[in-house]
Amino acid sequence: MNSDRNIVLLGFMGTGKSAVGQILARRLGLDFVDLDKRIEADAGAVIPEIFRSEGEDGFRARERRAVQEVSLRSGLVIASGGGVVLNPDNVRDLDSTGSLVCLTATPETILSRVGGDSERPLLQGGAPLSRIRDLLIRRSPYYAGIAVQVATDGLGADAVADAVLAALVAGGRHNTPQSIGKAEPSAVRLN
Ligand code: S3P
Repeated sequence: MNSDRNIVLLGFMGTGKSAVGQILARRLGLDFVDLDKRIEADAGAVIPEIFRSEGEDGFRARERRAVQEVSLRSGLVIASGGGVVLNPDNVRDLDSTGSLVCLTATPETILSRVGGDSERPLLQGGAPLSRIRDLLIRRSPYYAGIAVQVATDGLGADAVADAVLAALVAGGRHNTPQSIGKAEPSAVRLN
């Protein structure tokens, strides 16, 4: 594991990216960057407000700029927002200076972690389990394109951090620009 490279946590909402990222940063003595928090600080508004005033497109443009900035730095643990993978340029930039790790969880686990949370605009509006399933299916090619995958079901954040470190030490299949967004949806376990 190259200590100068960033460690970048990707994955759906509720897979534990922020909690695990903080633990990893503390253990490794690295700085932690939460991309969503950075976007909020820059906008002077929380994410639901950004979605309301600028729409999802406005949020994605802010997210893109935040990715470009952090990708120029090294020695960071970066927790991304769940939708960062939707733009292949984001994945390419994060991959250029970091080791990418995708955290996964079943829809039921995700619901148990984020259900009732009003901070996530994409999960509002009722029937959260169906929303989670639909979004996971649509996004699964993007998540499955990340070489290193760590399943988080039934694990606390410390155990997930252990698993991430083990996966990074073991090394994974290297991401290629071609692999991102091209994987079969079935490659992501949905239940
Ligand atoms: C989003 C995930 C959120 C946040 C925004 C959009 C997504 O981050 O970036 O609400 O598109 O999946 P978390 O994955 O940290 O919840």
